[in-house]
Amino acid sequence: MSQNQILIFDTTLRDGEQSPGCSMNLEEKLRVAAQLEALGVDIIEAGFAIASEGDFEAVHAVAGQCEKAIVASLARAARADIERAGAALKPAKRPRIHTFIATSPLHMQVKLNKSPEQVLESIRESVSLARNLVDDVEWSAEDATRSEPDFLARAIETAIKAGARTINLPDTVGYGTPETYGAMFRDMIGRVPNADQAVFSTHCHNDLGLAVANTLAAVAAGARQVESTINGIGERAGNAAVEEIAMALKVRHDVLPYRTGIVSTEITRASRLISAVTGMHVQPNKAIVGANAFAHESGIHQDGMLKDSSTYEIMTPESVGQGHSSLVLGKHSGRAAFKDKLSQLGYDLADNEFLDAFKRFKDLADAKKQVFDEDIVALVDDEVLRGHDRIQVTEVEVYCGSNGPQRAILTLNIDGEEVTAATRGNGPVDALFNAVRKLVPHDDASLQLYEVSAVTAGTDAQAEVSVVLAENGRTVRGVGAHNDTLVASARAYVNALNKLVVKRGRSALAA
Ligand code: KIV
Ligand code: ZN
Repeated sequence: MSQNQILIFDTTLRDGEQSPGCSMNLEEKLRVAAQLEALGVDIIEAGFAIASEGDFEAVHAVAGQCEKAIVASLARAARADIERAGAALKPAKRPRIHTFIATSPLHMQVKLNKSPEQVLESIRESVSLARNLVDDVEWSAEDATRSEPDFLARAIETAIKAGARTINLPDTVGYGTPETYGAMFRDMIGRVPNADQAVFSTHCHNDLGLAVANTLAAVAAGARQVESTINGIGERAGNAAVEEIAMALKVRHDVLPYRTGIVSTEITRASRLISAVTGMHVQPNKAIVGANAFAHESGIHQDGMLKDSSTYEIMTPESVGQGHSSLVLGKHSGRAAFKDKLSQLGYDLADNEFLDAFKRFKDLADAKKQVFDEDIVALVDDEVLRGHDRIQVTEVEVYCGSNGPQRAILTLNIDGEEVTAATRGNGPVDALFNAVRKLVPHDDASLQLYEVSAVTAGTDAQAEVSVVLAENGRTVRGVGAHNDTLVASARAYVNALNKLVVKRGRSALAA
């Protein structure tokens, strides 16, 4: 590996999935993993194998699918966790066990109830056990930024001696600043006697909005792996965003002379896929992937752009895979043209998925004069990603207007069986959601958010709806798209319910 090559460790499927409401099902994880490989990440953390049956299966399936990327599973410093991670990674061409334990006084006392010496012993045992299962072991010092430097140095030395080849120093609570986080890496790399036998890695949370700045400071101080997520999703305020790190290194190569394997033109596709599967929309002013990231509003800026785009753009939208919206297909377009468009947009659908998507496209083209790339992406993501849900929306009928009461008739397909309910409500959305509640009772769950946005401009635009449900401390987010806002609403609600069913099966393990 060249001295200035930075390995990109993507943890969208693990730390990213820990964002409130961001759970993904197996098919969604496999699609994300495929896109992460297309994006060129070096390591994919596919999950936390011991957390649940579903997490185990996901790590196992991603491990079997990935061709190039190293696939990692997280494991606490415990035999059962590490063995479970090893078993889940069996099909991987390049498996990595990522084991961690907290090293800060606060975490060691309050959370682990272990003395520093006991923590060192756990590191020795856990890393050695992991090395007996796979060659590639990463060790993380949870809460590294609040750890005593002398103890942290001993812990790192112990992990390397036991066989860890990557040492990750997370800013678990987003407490570091670029100066302190960079200094910690310089200090540890300089003082740990066997530091040259490991790659040092960053892992930054964004509680103070400094995750990317801290990551870059650590790279300048010698870190050669960065852990990050697409769109910066993750616990609380999220993790460092991979697209921001990759583009900072590319655009400011003059002062940050490092390289990554990221194929920058795949960034927008990856960002949209994550929004589609998690229902977490990207804020419009988000760097690199926000809807306004390349929009120019003021007259002075527009004038400059017309003369020379470099007046107000430090990178082109094309360089991050944002093409100009193009009018794509119409109601006379056939299957071949639709297939061709799908492959330009990066989709490779199975035959039955293709037929379902084509039917939805035809319905949309009938209802909407102009069908844009964004419409196709929303439609296909909605159709394909929901295709494996146990509960599906079959038919929606809603009666609404100023003379209430508003009524809904809803037919769902639950595990292959069709059921219908007719309900009233305080407005059409309430009537519709009451019908879902009648067909699939879930009294403990409450609706936390209902959000509608338009996929493109125009009153005939498709609606994209997000719904967040909470039940006993678990939150799930569902999404649905359709040119009828109420159909999109039913799809989003039902998608959230499907995720709730999956999440109920999970243990309450938290990393
Ligand atoms: O933030 C953190 O400390 C983590 C570790 C488990 C790597 O996610
Ligand atoms: Zn984390």
